[in-house]
Amino acid sequence: PTDSEQSSQTFESTPKKTRSDVRTLREIGRRRTFAIISHPDAGKTTLTEKLLLFGGAIKQAGAVKSRKTERKATSDFLSIEQERGISVSSSVMKFNYKGYEVNLLDTPGHKDFSEDTYRVLTAVDCAVMIIDSAKGVEPQTRKLMEVCRMRNTPIITFINKLDREGMDPLSLFEDVEDKLQIECTPITWPIGMGKRFKGVYHLQKHSLGLFAPGYSPKDGDGILINDLDDPLLDKSLGKQAEELRDDIELIEGASDPFNMEEYLKGSQTPVFFGSAINNFGVREMLDSFVEMAPPPGIRKASTRDVAPDEPAFTGFTFKIQANMDPAHRDRIAFFRICSGKFTRGMKVRHHRINKDVILSNATIFMAQERSNIDEAYPGDIIGIHNHGTIKIGDTFTEKEPLKFLGIPSFAPEHFRRVLLKNPMKTKALQKGLLQLAEEGTIQVFRPKINNDYILGAVGVLQFDVTMARLAAEYNVDAAHEPVDLSVARWITCENEAKLKEFIRKNEASIAIDSEGWITFLTTSEYQLGFAIEAWPDIKFHKTREYN
Ligand code: G4P
Repeated sequence: PTDSEQSSQTFESTPKKTRSDVRTLREIGRRRTFAIISHPDAGKTTLTEKLLLFGGAIKQAGAVKSRKTERKATSDFLSIEQERGISVSSSVMKFNYKGYEVNLLDTPGHKDFSEDTYRVLTAVDCAVMIIDSAKGVEPQTRKLMEVCRMRNTPIITFINKLDREGMDPLSLFEDVEDKLQIECTPITWPIGMGKRFKGVYHLQKHSLGLFAPGYSPKDGDGILINDLDDPLLDKSLGKQAEELRDDIELIEGASDPFNMEEYLKGSQTPVFFGSAINNFGVREMLDSFVEMAPPPGIRKASTRDVAPDEPAFTGFTFKIQANMDPAHRDRIAFFRICSGKFTRGMKVRHHRINKDVILSNATIFMAQERSNIDEAYPGDIIGIHNHGTIKIGDTFTEKEPLKFLGIPSFAPEHFRRVLLKNPMKTKALQKGLLQLAEEGTIQVFRPKINNDYILGAVGVLQFDVTMARLAAEYNVDAAHEPVDLSVARWITCENEAKLKEFIRKNEASIAIDSEGWITFLTTSEYQLGFAIEAWPDIKFHKTREYN
């Protein structure tokens, strides 16, 4: 579609609009901001690389990959620094495809899986889910999907590694539907797999993409057929043509057709099959992705909903990254624009601290470099230099005091107790931990019955990152030790007396987090279930908003 068609799909123009308004509308309409959700090894790095190649953001295969290899080989503090450096430059990858401005936000996995991985998903408008065809739905995908569900983020599914033997496609559908509670509808369908993998059939276009390892099909490479009875099908697929006919008959009877409305509410996912490493089926997915995926939409703030086409600039911080360059210990706040236009040097209000901030050198992220930008639009992510005054969830606007919602803290799953090696450094430890908690690096809990510092994280690498940063930035020598905890829930209750009673009777399991929220910490899901049953008035929350 042309730019003007895209923008009119979502936003009605009124005759009063100025030229600049129209331009902004057009820019919003062509933005696609998304993340990839997958379990390690499903093929995220490989697929990312192919997408960037299509978008012209990188020139050669291997550019993304080599970074990952570097990352895998690292473990000590310096490497953590390097790792963070690497992930800053690849945190947001911007590319242009068929007139669309695509922002791909990285969701760190493997060892660097952290709350940031979850929070990135609060800043996107859609997601691509990769499933390894031999493995089906794996745990990390499940967790990430849970986060997508909080905002009903639309999901496109790419089933990868069809060049290898895997589960049959219908079982994969069942697996996704059972484990993720999202209905699958095929857009492409695989013809065989492994050694018998012949390609994919596009159910909407009635075209055939034939597979040749290592060869990536170009636009117009597909073979168009009139219908499934077309003799061209037999000529191209031999015996497997009949199998395809049976499959399609079966699948068309067994699944609902693609429904835009269901997809946009996150209850149906269009499914594509392919092989990322062979760059096969990727273009079909990308072509549909830019057309189906929604442009930036309405965002909830505490007082009202904010539409992307409102003229005033608004946005929020969803991630803070310490600088990888030891000579410059500043930080970068990743900021998602929700409405209005960003222009370099503009003055905005930082509402939490009630101060104006000049956005003089915001950074925009490209695949391999960072560059200063002059303008950005809703859906774009800008990096703002931060000297410790910005925390996760902070909202900046031109004037109106707003606070965007839905950029939460997630209940940690791993816990450690801090061991301070030099007792004279208690104050510095407290300050450091508070700041690191504000940046979303780690969560900090103070138990009611003692003076411990309990750290919580969703990925264990964060404990080492925290210790390394305490040493480097706060001159605090500390270590961490195991503690018998595995579940945390923030608790609230409408009845104050009941809440007090709960706290009194469960004193040993109560802690206060860095923002003053009351938290229930316990050893197992079983114990949590026990408490939930015994205390029906108490609400146990898996997420909480930042103050
Ligand atoms: P990740 O970022 O999700 O962790 O996955 P990544 O892309 O690194 O892929 C994980 C492994 O799966 C890699 O192999 C990659 O080459 C392979 N892979 C990705 N897509 C396909 C595919 O379509 N078919 C097949 N057969 N393999 C695929 P590796 O051995 O771990 O790394 P490498 O030695 O290939 O670099």
